Amino acid sequence: MIKTAVLGFGTVGSGVVELIDRNRGPVERRVPEGIEVKYILDLRDFPDSPYRDRVVHDFNVILEDPEIRVICETMGGMEPAFTFSKKALEKGISVCTSNKELVAAHGPELLQTAQKNHCSYLFEASVGGGIPIIRPVTSSLAPENITRIIGILNGTTNYMMTRMEKENLSFDEVLRQAQERGYAEKNPEADIEGHDACRKIAILSSLMCGKNVRYEDVPCEGISRISMTDVAYARAMGCAIKLLGVSERSPEDGTFYVRTAPFMVPSSHPLHSVEDVFNAVFVHGNLVDDLMFYGRGAGKFPTASAVVSDLLECALQIGSTIPVRWTDEVMQLSDPAQKKGRFFVRVPAEHREKAAELFKGCASVSAPEAPTDETAFTTAPMTEAAFEAAVAELGEVRSRIRLLEA
Ligand SMILES: NC(=O)c1ccc[n+]([C@@H]2O[C@H](COP(=O)([O-])OP(=O)(O)OC[C@H]3O[C@@H](n4cnc5c(N)ncnc54)[C@H](OP(=O)(O)O)[C@@H]3O)[C@@H](O)[C@H]2O)c1
Repeated sequence: MIKTAVLGFGTVGSGVVELIDRNRGPVERRVPEGIEVKYILDLRDFPDSPYRDRVVHDFNVILEDPEIRVICETMGGMEPAFTFSKKALEKGISVCTSNKELVAAHGPELLQTAQKNHCSYLFEASVGGGIPIIRPVTSSLAPENITRIIGILNGTTNYMMTRMEKENLSFDEVLRQAQERGYAEKNPEADIEGHDACRKIAILSSLMCGKNVRYEDVPCEGISRISMTDVAYARAMGCAIKLLGVSERSPEDGTFYVRTAPFMVPSSHPLHSVEDVFNAVFVHGNLVDDLMFYGRGAGKFPTASAVVSDLLECALQIGSTIPVRWTDEVMQLSDPAQKKGRFFVRVPAEHREKAAELFKGCASVSAPEAPTDETAFTTAPMTEAAFEAAVAELGEVRSRIRLLEA
């Protein structure tokens, strides 16, 4: 029996413990010795849980038990998750985690610690919940030159944008609905301002280039400024507005462009049909061409499934390191101002002529529900810098959203 400990008996951690019991067959097909959860670390006691006898409150009990060779960190947050993970790895105990915040901030350091101590640090559940995406990028697609990753990486915001589109509800109404259904936190800032998706695209970008793409360096914009009018225009244009994490490697010089922002996604793009809490990651490799990974980006069992898949891999590789190439060398990202693209723009009607002069080659768009005191158009391809300069000259812009090219 391989003995493990689960740190944090919340949504994901309880899913890990239950899954190991419930799916014993598949678990033992992969690891014939079987897996036993010897300890559950939490602040609370869970007197009604069938697993109450395994609950401990002192991490040192786990750290000092030589039988524990792998732990699952499902506590979340930076501390004490970072210290516990680091201490475990220093003792040669592998760590599997769902904690994207910690992975985005300390991934390279924890991977290095694992390597030095002949154990592994794996984080499949940190991006896309139950969707296998980390292992495909680091392992299955190893011979590829991955040139683009575009992801719907946050289920809360995708749910909100889908409901705004389908039910004609305002941003505040869908946020309330998402909170009532348990899809959005009481403090939804990390989701709606794009920080969560930004951390995930930074992790994927780091794995694409093998260096450290710091999420603080990634331009990040959320969905809080998207209105019902924007959604009406998107519908009329055959698009859906989605919060995307985008990462592109320049074929010319290998530099990286990374951004998190809402985009108009045309119906011809496979990401257009990804609705509600579902996530999807669209990957382009130079040999394999286009791939799309789709599934539940969160939830107790989908996320636990990804943690346990890492746990099984670690259990099979005790005493060695499962390689993940992600060094602490900071990846310099290309200047986002020089990135070319098209934009959807809404301006007050009195700026119509000036806008046509400033945005040469723009194409006007209309929507049945659009206010009569404004005009809307899509620009020709232009750099972000040229776009911002034209906006500054125009003065007032009601809304601007990037277009994703099909
Ligand atoms: N939920 C999802 O669908 C999902 C999906 C993908 C990734 N994740 C990530 O997975 C991680 C866990 O998420 P979750 O939703 O399972 O969170 P959760 O339900 O809040 O569970 C966390 C658990 O850890 C416990 N805990 C917190 N600090 C602790 C400490 N110092 N010592 C021992 N136990 C401690 C908490 O106890 P208290 O409740 O008493 O504080 C709670 O039981 C997060 O990083 C999250 O971002 C979650």
